[in-house]
Amino acid sequence: MCGIVGYIGKRDVAPLLLEGLQRLEYRGYDSAGVVITGPKATGLKMVKAKGRVRDLEARVPKRFAGTTGIAHTRWATHGAPSDENAHPHLDAENKVAVVHNGIIDNAAELRAKLIADGVTFLSETDTEVLTHLVARSTAEKLEDRVREALRHIEGTYGIAVLHADFNDRIVVARNGSPVVLGIGEKEMFVASDVAALVSHTRQVVTLDDGEMATIKADDYRTYTTEGSRTSAEPTTVEWEAESYDMGGHDTYMHKEIFEQADAVDRVLRGRIDDRFSTVHLGGLNLDAHDARKVRRVKILGCGTSYHAGMIGAQMIEELARIPADAEPASEFRYRNAVVDPDTLYVAVSQSGETYDVLAAVQELKRKGARVFGIVNVVGSAIAREADAGVYVHAGPEVCVVSTKCFTNTTVAFALLALHLGRIRDLSVSDGKRIIAGLRRLPAQIEQMLEREDEIKKLAQEFAEAKSMLFIGRVRGYPVAREASLKLKEVSYIHAEAYPASELKHGPLALIEPALPTVAIVPDDDLLEKNRAALEEIKARSGRILAVAHREQEKADHTIVVPKNEDELDPILMGIPLQLLAYHTALALGRDIDKPRNLAKSVTVE
Ligand code: F6R
Repeated sequence: MCGIVGYIGKRDVAPLLLEGLQRLEYRGYDSAGVVITGPKATGLKMVKAKGRVRDLEARVPKRFAGTTGIAHTRWATHGAPSDENAHPHLDAENKVAVVHNGIIDNAAELRAKLIADGVTFLSETDTEVLTHLVARSTAEKLEDRVREALRHIEGTYGIAVLHADFNDRIVVARNGSPVVLGIGEKEMFVASDVAALVSHTRQVVTLDDGEMATIKADDYRTYTTEGSRTSAEPTTVEWEAESYDMGGHDTYMHKEIFEQADAVDRVLRGRIDDRFSTVHLGGLNLDAHDARKVRRVKILGCGTSYHAGMIGAQMIEELARIPADAEPASEFRYRNAVVDPDTLYVAVSQSGETYDVLAAVQELKRKGARVFGIVNVVGSAIAREADAGVYVHAGPEVCVVSTKCFTNTTVAFALLALHLGRIRDLSVSDGKRIIAGLRRLPAQIEQMLEREDEIKKLAQEFAEAKSMLFIGRVRGYPVAREASLKLKEVSYIHAEAYPASELKHGPLALIEPALPTVAIVPDDDLLEKNRAALEEIKARSGRILAVAHREQEKADHTIVVPKNEDELDPILMGIPLQLLAYHTALALGRDIDKPRNLAKSVTVE
């Protein structure tokens, strides 16, 4: 979704900002803009363009010098994608420039009042309201002008403000949309995502909601929107700038699929305790006494993270024998759920910024629940809001569609399930069996990725399909759901996932040669049941691709996946289907890393 980047220092600012915007491109956007100034510059200079950052770059004039600036990639909410609606937004005197992520809920009301007072609006955006409010303040300091303006605002924001008369500083504020300061040597950066900073500095300060900051070239100050100072000590980002590069792959999605063996290795590292056949999850803060009191586990996430949560719920029930289920956080937060003190709530998010998940966590905490986070981005809003948690250590995921993070999240759930299980009734030998299975995963992932050519050939066939059906039973069902989501997101082919057990209750009517079915057929106690479903489809001339542990006679093709422990099989079975989605999208010429209409972090409702 929208991205912010800003810089103040001695360097030529425009190229730095454009590079920062390029690093934020993965979040999804439809227009971009940049505004600059500097000690020697008079006033503000701005360029905006609908389209890509390269379209903006093409418009930047040769003489566009400055040492301070803010820039933005916009994802339209109020007003269509256009040059005018792109950020930054300036006031009538070209003195105040604002870039904004988030949504101002009372923008229409504020706009009407400002228009009645004679203000002329140049865009349809909610953000422009903020620009005029800052411009109309007569407070002495820029910080106070911004604070006054924010007092009128209802909604979410991450903002950066530049003022021609205060060109030694940038003022930023956060409420529900991330803002990170990057601390350099006599230079400072600001961004909505560390991706835009890490090639310059890895020392960062993440603002909390309700916090503001003033950055100058050699100094920064953080304070609340009420004005009291806050102490924001810098932390070091562990992700390196190179992890954001394509590293020889043609797309980030391909790179991230192929990083999965290393990523799984990282989520396991240092966590296995062979002595007691369990795991250590340092961030969990749940002693055995409290863990035994947990009577239910409720997992909340959206999209792919929700599917990882479905797999997690299954593992927790199987290994720890605690009733567990997953629910989309986007639904949970609106249904005034009964919050139970003996339930452990687990919020799952790659980005740690998904608004629906964050809102669910805040609602749960308000009702006195204990919430754990299973999150990838360290220091993100959900990680900070949760009482405790586990990082999945997948490394930065740049492609809009999630792959390696899904896999690592399912492994993190296996660790949680094992931990809870070994505190309860899971035997030492079962603990050992699961640990051995977890250790086999990285090599098995490598082994599976070697089958890329076979999957690529299949994808060419499937690229002609108008629609596809994905089926699985119990452990296989969330795998089918995730594979179906992956295919539709990246290839735009319609896909539907169904429990295989439900086929004869309706979807069987769809079966015909033109509708391929992908069936998840693990070699577990439900193998014969799954085979019966394949028979039913074949009897109706349906085309079948099976993902199984051995060749399936009724299938037209079987992708044979290495067998692990039954409980861990879902972790591996989705991986060939990530490749299937990837190669189908490639065959159709799709924009793989940035599918249409989607954004990496959904920080708005
Ligand atoms: C799918 C995908 C989305 C996200 C969802 C939640 O490939 O990426 O469905 O999984 O928007 O995002 P996070 O995990 O960042 O909370």
